[in-house]
Amino acid sequence: MSPELILAPLRGITEAAFRDLFVRFFPGFDRAVAPFISTFQGNRIRPAKLKELLPENNTRLPVIPQILAKDPDHFIATAGTLADLGYTVVNWNLGCPYPMVANKMRGSGLLPFPEKIEAFLEKVQSMPLALSVKTRLGRRDGREILDLMPIFNKFPLAELIIHPRTGIQMYEGEVDLDIFARCLEVSRHPVVYNGDINTYAEYQRLAGRFPGVKSFMIGRGALANPFLPAEIKQMPLPDNPLQRVAAFHAALMACYGEMLSGPSPVLGRMKELWFYLARSFAGGEKLLKKIQKTKKIERYAEIAGEIFRHGVWQPDKGGESS
Ligand SMILES: Cc1cc2nc3c(=O)[nH]c(=O)nc-3n(C[C@H](O)[C@H](O)[C@H](O)COP(=O)(O)O)c2cc1C
Repeated sequence: MSPELILAPLRGITEAAFRDLFVRFFPGFDRAVAPFISTFQGNRIRPAKLKELLPENNTRLPVIPQILAKDPDHFIATAGTLADLGYTVVNWNLGCPYPMVANKMRGSGLLPFPEKIEAFLEKVQSMPLALSVKTRLGRRDGREILDLMPIFNKFPLAELIIHPRTGIQMYEGEVDLDIFARCLEVSRHPVVYNGDINTYAEYQRLAGRFPGVKSFMIGRGALANPFLPAEIKQMPLPDNPLQRVAAFHAALMACYGEMLSGPSPVLGRMKELWFYLARSFAGGEKLLKKIQKTKKIERYAEIAGEIFRHGVWQPDKGGESS
């Protein structure tokens, strides 16, 4: 059976315009979780963030909005605004690893405090939307989640998305699949696996080990190789993948040109994408350095053009030279 694939939230990258264009060029994802919005002045959403979530800006890929909050009342108020837009599910960010967030007991900073998580879940139960949770194994210790599983089980969650790292690992180091397996064994909720699915072979390994997992969330792997979701779903791939990537790149750059104010933020966003995309080209590290050094958008466009004309697309080799 074909798995359900979910595009991961990557703040500053997988925003509404990116998601919309991505699925126009690259099939395979079934839905997305949007990058987090944090509650602002207690319970308001910044207008720019709300625009991201307007249904008319999310027509191609169903999206679940995500809220970063530690105060249940703020969460409920923000979720209410999202319900008014027609959303029926909202995701709680319980995994953000950045010290600025975690040190304020938000995101993964809450994970060492089961009683606070329980009190939060108790309170948000009353809201009219279903709750999905995205979490890590712990803040400092991957076993923290084992104390949280009975708490998650007490409440009616739509799903539990687990990235099997600790907060202090950030996005590096090994994922702990043994602890993930223990969570899966005891969870009464559908569990979504998320982390380091970079190739079809990696997906197969995980799907083979965890047949109970029906949904997989992919972030960086799909930015590096946008054909990965289609590969996993065994959909047909284009004869000339690089041409498709080049067309997506051109459309994205034009879209950012209209959306953002001036060439500098456009260049910033494009560089961010290459941080991942470069891995799928032979000699990716060198290409990335060249792009990162660029200061002018015109020069950037020339370099990107050269890469699409002469680059060697080899997504499963992780940017090595051929
Ligand atoms: C630049 C960046 C921004 C991210 N922003 C968010 C976010 O807003 N909300 C969230 O839950 N996770 C966020 N994440 C974590 C990803 O959703 C995902 O859990 C993580 O990258 C592991 O999955 P992957 O190996 O498939 O990328 C972010 C990760 C990165 C690298």
